[in-house]
Amino acid sequence: MKVFIPSGVQVFDEPILGIETSCDETAASILVNGEIRSNVISSQIALHAKTGGVVPEVASRAHVETIRPVISQAILEAGLTIQEIAAIAVCNRPGLIGCLSVGVSAAKALSVSLTTPFIGIHHLEGHLLSPLASGTEIKFPHLALLVSGGHTELVLLRAIGDYQLIGQTIDDAAGEAFDKSARLLGIPYPGGRILSELAEQGDSERYRLPTGLEGKDTFDFSFSGLKTAVRRLVEVEGSSLDRNSAAASIQRAIVSVLVKRTVNAAEKVEIETITLSGGVAANLCLRQSLGEACNKRGISFVPALNELCTDNAAMIAIPASFRLTKGELSDFDLDCFANAPLPTLEHQR
Ligand code: KG4
Ligand code: ZN
Repeated sequence: MKVFIPSGVQVFDEPILGIETSCDETAASILVNGEIRSNVISSQIALHAKTGGVVPEVASRAHVETIRPVISQAILEAGLTIQEIAAIAVCNRPGLIGCLSVGVSAAKALSVSLTTPFIGIHHLEGHLLSPLASGTEIKFPHLALLVSGGHTELVLLRAIGDYQLIGQTIDDAAGEAFDKSARLLGIPYPGGRILSELAEQGDSERYRLPTGLEGKDTFDFSFSGLKTAVRRLVEVEGSSLDRNSAAASIQRAIVSVLVKRTVNAAEKVEIETITLSGGVAANLCLRQSLGEACNKRGISFVPALNELCTDNAAMIAIPASFRLTKGELSDFDLDCFANAPLPTLEHQR
């Protein structure tokens, strides 16, 4: 997979090791001169299925156990030796502190032993730039819809490192809305993906559900009303609930508001390209609906490749490949943060 390099932008040409441990995937990737040579992901889904959600301490321990083999595998699959790593990119924000610390500690240890520089990367910048690896040219400025388990954001990307948040959720994230609705329907963790599979067999018109904030001028989202409505639907319908149709109706409610807001925002800021990224971007209904809406309006649509939608380390190495050429590096006092604003490029501050 080759990363699209915008004109006038330089890319780091030596091997970068990317590391991602912000939540429930332990991931490592090798990026060389804009080419993703490996992208290894160890998912903790089976582990968290027992508790029906991520328990931070359990997730951190699993990262500790898996980080070394995952990094070794990424280096092996890229056909390199560890000594050939020229820089390390690690996600240090935002995320679960105990989880982030595992990746950051590994990056620091490798940096000392290999005398290699390292750089802390913002998780959302990773998601935002992941569509660059879709094999298509992407013009700047463009609009990104970033939908994951923790975030639902509309971001204007003027250039690499120059981002403006123009809309976001005021309560639950889209992935959370999928996962919480799934739990209410009795679907096991991780609910979002399974709910979308059940939806294929259901009638999306069967149940009427709210789509959140009204008004053409808002670019924000709200999914807490949907959760309440699903809870009520489950109580009222009881055993007569058609679960597949409930899943289809929930998916329709979430997808329709995401598409409507994104297209309205694109028209307002007058951009010609929309990208889609984050775990929920793997949702087929969302990819198709947003694709069709863009088509109708002559907007080009670039979703992240499926394997780059859910958390991965290639998306951490990509921003680093641009930032390293600007001389950006982190120090050994690099910290981890549960919350953090979108980053800018240092030279633009
Ligand atoms: O980006 P991601 O891997 O982790 C975060 O940074 O949050 O996103 C995970 C989220 C979860 O809420 C998961 O249920 C959702 O993405 N997800 C989906 C699908 N695949 C993953 N939601 C709906 N449909 C899917 N096919
Ligand atoms: Zn994510």
